[in-house]
Amino acid sequence: MVLSTVDELGEPDARVLILKNLDQRGWHFATIGNGLKGCQIAANPNVSLTFYWSSLGRQVRIRGVTLKADDHESNADFQARSAVAKANVFVGRQSQVLTSRSELDTAIANGARQVSEKPDSIASNWSLFIASPREVEFWQAAEDRRHQRLLYKRDGTAWLCDQLWP
Ligand SMILES: Cc1cc2nc3c(=O)[nH]c(=O)nc-3n(C[C@H](O)[C@H](O)[C@H](O)COP(=O)(O)O)c2cc1C
Repeated sequence: MVLSTVDELGEPDARVLILKNLDQRGWHFATIGNGLKGCQIAANPNVSLTFYWSSLGRQVRIRGVTLKADDHESNADFQARSAVAKANVFVGRQSQVLTSRSELDTAIANGARQVSEKPDSIASNWSLFIASPREVEFWQAAEDRRHQRLLYKRDGTAWLCDQLWP
């Protein structure tokens, strides 16, 4: 899925992330809480998510606000990561400038050693976030171009639905 955020200048930023889960609270994603997007979200929790399935001709767009899952959920997500993925979090400086590939190789080797020595340790900066929807739009392609668009908007505990012009 594509997660879009806004930076400190109010400019949009977007990147692909893994959808970790979906429940009544919203769509879950996990990342380094003090990384670039984590800081953007801390300053402005408004986000959007975009999904596209080419073979189905289907798009889903979500706009809402990001909540932080509790430590228990973030830790469980971290523990489910592979050893190399954990190592990357322990030593990674995601989105900072990398001076050379050897800097990366050395850091990952150190991280792998750290994980093998203490396999149950958890990176305190790993965070699970939940995008809680304010509105969700379903877009379905039609061969005759009479595409269908349904926009659901939250209204208290209910959802109101409008069809939109394609
Ligand atoms: C298929 C795919 C899945 C990805 N999944 C994640 C993810 O779950 N978490 C994450 O932090 N970055 C993930 N990334 C990397 C992000 O797209 C992005 O490069 C990184 O999070 C840095 O973003 P930022 O500088 O906006 O914080 C993924 C990239 C791709 C292409």
